[in-house]
Amino acid sequence: MIDTSLYTSHIPVMLEACMRLMDPKPGGHYADGTLGAGGHSEAILKASSPDGKLMSFDLDPAAIAIARERLAPYGERVRIIQDSYVNLGCYAEADSLDGFMVDLGVSSMQLDRQERGFSFLQDGPLDMRFSPNQKVTAADLVNDLPEEELARILWLYGEERKSRQIAAMICAERERNKIETTAQLRDVILSAAGNSREKIHPATRSFQAIRIAVNGELDAVEAVLPAAVKALKPGGRLLVISFHSLEDRIVKNYLKTESKDCLCPPEQPVCTCGHKATLRELTRHPVTADEEEIKVNPRSRSAKLRVAVKL
Ligand SMILES: C[S@@+](CC[C@H](N)C(=O)[O-])C[C@H]1O[C@@H](n2cnc3c(N)ncnc32)[C@H](O)[C@@H]1O
Repeated sequence: MIDTSLYTSHIPVMLEACMRLMDPKPGGHYADGTLGAGGHSEAILKASSPDGKLMSFDLDPAAIAIARERLAPYGERVRIIQDSYVNLGCYAEADSLDGFMVDLGVSSMQLDRQERGFSFLQDGPLDMRFSPNQKVTAADLVNDLPEEELARILWLYGEERKSRQIAAMICAERERNKIETTAQLRDVILSAAGNSREKIHPATRSFQAIRIAVNGELDAVEAVLPAAVKALKPGGRLLVISFHSLEDRIVKNYLKTESKDCLCPPEQPVCTCGHKATLRELTRHPVTADEEEIKVNPRSRSAKLRVAVKL
């Protein structure tokens, strides 16, 4: 029997807005690309009661074990798949889904488990993989990447202003000792970043950047958007919750491009691209959490939800 406090530690973000915008209905077919603790999945199952169907993906067998127990009362209505949401097309036929969502990033359950190595607040192995089947860990990147590549990752994925100093300090430290734990990495970052006036811990941005690189998170977002559009029925809804400006930019640009009938430069008198819109945006501006939600769930502060309907 799994302790239910494991999944109640992760509060699903903007749950009400997600359900309003996805609008699950009895008899509908839905997919949740990021099962996590199963909060959004359970809400979809409840809203599409008594016979809506759901397939839910996660790379992390630990998350799947917890969510499987939570969703057990829904029996055959839910299919849980241990795979990347990028492979949606291997499980869902074209034009088959009424709704698809992803809630990107890391769950509170993953952050809280020190052995997963996601958090600088606890000491653990420098891992950060969503899936244990993945070969490269955070320790591999930190110990093996050339200094310029490390600096690039910290700058690009973490928007870390001290990316060069931190990368240089990591490389100096790894000459002496292999960096194998989250505490080691945190201390190296602290010695390079010094005292920061920012509200967040000086290691926040670097840890986020390394996690994104380990899991290829931006490539995954880029790949899932066309796969989702293909799998949705006309009228089906696509929902993406992102926590990082680069992820949100990918989603925003994709929705904007796919909502246009022609992508030719405006000065061109006749369309030659032949592009046809596949989506209509339902959220011109991203939906964000209100103050009340942020108070209860501080993680929701940086969440942005964008939604589109397939044409
Ligand atoms: C923020 S949590 C989702 C929480 C979930 N919506 C809930 O209500 O409990 C993100 C989850 O996505 C999973 N994940 C990240 N990248 C993935 C991918 N490419 N394919 C499948 N799952 C992924 C992570 O392992 C994590 O469990």
